Amino acid sequence: MTACPFGEAWDEVFARGGFDLAAESPRVSGLLRGAGLSGRGALLDLGCGLGRHLREREGLGPVVGLDSSSRALARAKQMPGVSCVRGLMTALPFAAGAFSAVLAWRSIYLQSMTDIRRTAGEIRRVLAPGGRLVCSVRTRDNALARHAEKTGRRLEEGTWELVAHGFCVTYHFFTRQEVLSVFKDFDIHQLSGMELAHTAITRGLPGENRFWVFSAQKP
Ligand SMILES: C[S@@+](CC[C@H](N)C(=O)[O-])C[C@H]1O[C@@H](n2cnc3c(N)ncnc32)[C@H](O)[C@@H]1O
Repeated sequence: MTACPFGEAWDEVFARGGFDLAAESPRVSGLLRGAGLSGRGALLDLGCGLGRHLREREGLGPVVGLDSSSRALARAKQMPGVSCVRGLMTALPFAAGAFSAVLAWRSIYLQSMTDIRRTAGEIRRVLAPGGRLVCSVRTRDNALARHAEKTGRRLEEGTWELVAHGFCVTYHFFTRQEVLSVFKDFDIHQLSGMELAHTAITRGLPGENRFWVFSAQKP
């Protein structure tokens, strides 16, 4: 059980203008295309935030952004042709098989392991057979994980609550084995460790800002 006031933190982040992530979208679009998604039906951006990855969607078919933050969605839905839905990753308000692809970029690890497993089940449910997932999750060997060990509140193995810039956020830091275990019902392709851009929360922390980045397919 998390004590972070769920949802409020992200609304507050977006009320202050959002976070200052460097432009990762061309890289994310490249991964989506690399996973063979071009023109193959609807794409769900899970935890879409401001919808920065929804801009670079040329050739990717219809796009739906889901997020729990109404403030984030208010910005994301300004993009023409993008549908935005408020909801939780753990209970997706979509029919089984509704999507040919799901993007979960810097989003699903912001939960406890129980909720992450529930989310993986929901992703599998809303994907059509053969559908693809492109995902990034924070590694256990991560600058923020080491910071959490010093300043956070441990909820379970690898999961911490952290207060940064006045916001309380839950993070799970994944081992490689956990990625394989959580997504065991998918065929995992191209799982690799990658350094991604810092946010205001991680900039200045010693060590790397590493993520597991992978694409996976629902059999
Ligand atoms: C670090 S941001 C990443 C946003 C976007 N994917 C990107 O890469 O720019 C995480 C997003 O996940 C959303 N979020 C966190 N927990 C969520 C949940 N349980 N259900 C739906 N959205 C959630 C937050 O509101 C926030 O917009």
